Amino acid sequence: MSIRVAIITSSDTGYRGEREDLSQPAVREIVEAAGDTVVSAALLPDNRKMLAEKMKTIADWKEADLILTTGGTGFSPRDITPEATMDIAERLVPGIPEAMRAYSLQFTGRAMLSRAVSVIRKQTLIVNLPGSPKAVKECLESIYPQLQHGIDILTGKTGDCGRK
Ligand code: MTE
Repeated sequence: MSIRVAIITSSDTGYRGEREDLSQPAVREIVEAAGDTVVSAALLPDNRKMLAEKMKTIADWKEADLILTTGGTGFSPRDITPEATMDIAERLVPGIPEAMRAYSLQFTGRAMLSRAVSVIRKQTLIVNLPGSPKAVKECLESIYPQLQHGIDILTGKTGDCGRK
């Protein structure tokens, strides 16, 4: 079964049309190369309430199995994607950002500056990614192959972890 992916980008400048967003095409490329489907893509300002509301709606209406957010995970006062994600979290998935950061450190020590989180709400997995297309690619290549199994368990399609 292919994964239904919703992309949400958090960027004040992107939202105002002052900067072209390159993170969504980077996500889309990896998702589609895996045979999965991007069902929606939203570009929002760095607004905690708006971001949380968007994630909540997608999860509660089962519009996607996986929400990938891009941007807003750094130290700028406007970076609030992790906080918005935690606002609507039901359960935490710390292993996913741990894996992204561990893998990413081979490319840049600054990987430790991403405050990305991953959580579950209902039957939707949510993963924060940094905003640059390079970072998106590096982070996704470290986690994406494992997500299908987690989502299959989350959505009740399998209860069997096998021996892999
Ligand atoms: N992770 C990877 N794999 N590659 C990167 O280039 N950039 C880092 C970090 N994570 C980076 C990365 C930098 S410089 C920052 S400031 C943080 O992600 C936060 O990025 P964001 O504010 O775009 O979310």
